[in-house]
Amino acid sequence: MAQLFKPSANNYARTSIVLGGLTPVLIGLSLAAFSRSPLNTKVGTAKNQPVPFSHTHHAWELGIDCRYCHTAVEKSSYAGLPATETCMSCHSQIWTNSPLLEPVRQSYETGTPIQWNLVNKTPEFVYFNHSIHVARGINCNNCHGPVQNMPITAKGKSFQMQWCLKCHRAPEKYLYKDETKPNQTPRQQVFDLYWKMQAKEELTPRENGILAGEEQETGDAKEIEKGKKLVNQYGVKVQQLADCWVCHR
Ligand code: HEC
Ligand code: HEC
Ligand code: HEC
Ligand code: HEC
Ligand code: HEC
Repeated sequence: MAQLFKPSANNYARTSIVLGGLTPVLIGLSLAAFSRSPLNTKVGTAKNQPVPFSHTHHAWELGIDCRYCHTAVEKSSYAGLPATETCMSCHSQIWTNSPLLEPVRQSYETGTPIQWNLVNKTPEFVYFNHSIHVARGINCNNCHGPVQNMPITAKGKSFQMQWCLKCHRAPEKYLYKDETKPNQTPRQQVFDLYWKMQAKEELTPRENGILAGEEQETGDAKEIEKGKKLVNQYGVKVQQLADCWVCHR
């Protein structure tokens, strides 16, 4: 697959895809059997990290907002990883002798960024954008699994094309809004769900499902009706959302 879509061949790939060329589709299909094996999708597998950073400690037990560290997530296509300074805002004062934090102190002293190993990476020929999903109220855990339960970060979903398309073809089955907080923007809702969990407020089954990283494809007619309203309200371009150029440009 890497050979099929080298970054340098991007224009080729794009053109053939945009023109709806049959060849890439056929190749895609023949690769599908391979690309669906768990070996390739790596769901649930963690990677070795220079520092054993725990989301369970930081995001759940300490309750630090995702945006404190992933500062770009609501504004840009990338979520981004935190700079060493962000860690040192606390760790210059607490846990200062921890051997586990030695690479963080080293990085701070030398000015060399920590080399985290990304667990989520789509191929070069796929375009993804965080900010639009967050602006539509899609919770991080829909796509990353139960991050608050990860002492070491693992990949939560396959990120295969079919997986993205399931939602892009029928977003009304996925979009969700907390009706007890009608005045919140969809973006606020994404982060408020973590606070609700933190404050041990009562959660609906749907909210529990989102936090657990379960697939949100609801079959419930009432929920779908609500989803359709949100699709209209947010102006989601449903007719185009599954077009090839949306993700391959
Ligand atoms: C808001 C403050 C805060 C920030 C920011 C923060 N931490 Fe922590 N961190 C803590 C606290 C408090 C603990 C102790 C948690 C516990 O064990 O109860 C901790 C524990 C740790 C530990 C475990 C240390 C040990 O010896 O068990 C590691 C590793 C760690 N943090 C890494 C990081 C990294 C990497 C960053 C930056 C991406 C970071 N932390 C940012 C507060 C923070
Ligand atoms: C204290 C800082 C901090 C906070 C708060 C934090 N993260 Fe992270 N996050 C990191 C660091 C450091 C990494 C890179 C190391 C790793 O993968 O564990 C990371 C990695 C990730 C990754 C995997 C990125 C990849 O592809 O490798 C996801 C997904 C993620 N965070 C989601 C979240 C979500 C969702 C929240 C809020 C519920 C959150 N994070 C809160 C520091 C933080
Ligand atoms: C619709 C699915 C989706 C949602 C919602 C989502 N992400 Fe991601 N995330 C992805 C994909 C896909 C990638 C890989 C992007 C790539 O390879 O370019 C990714 C990558 C990341 C990374 C790795 C660094 C980076 O910028 O690529 C972090 C950190 C991360 N996400 C955090 C978050 C946080 C925090 C939230 C919620 C505020 C969130 N994500 C919401 C799909 C999603
Ligand atoms: C849970 C539902 C859901 C999932 C899963 C999802 N998306 Fe989306 N995506 C949306 C919605 C809703 C929009 C907003 C469309 C609009 O407002 O017109 C969107 C928009 C986009 C856009 C358009 C961004 C722009 O700037 O126009 C891209 C690109 C995209 N998604 C890529 C992906 C990729 C790649 C994946 C899989 C890794 C993915 N999405 C998974 C719901 C989803
Ligand atoms: C919602 C986003 C999205 C849309 C829309 C989309 N794709 Fe994809 N596509 C992806 C992702 C993500 C991958 C990477 C899958 C992986 O890494 O396994 C991919 C991979 C591919 C591949 C590589 C082979 C494979 O199956 O992994 C081909 C070929 C392809 N897409 C063609 C198309 C065509 C043709 C269309 C329009 C009919 C289309 N895509 C629409 C997200 C999308």
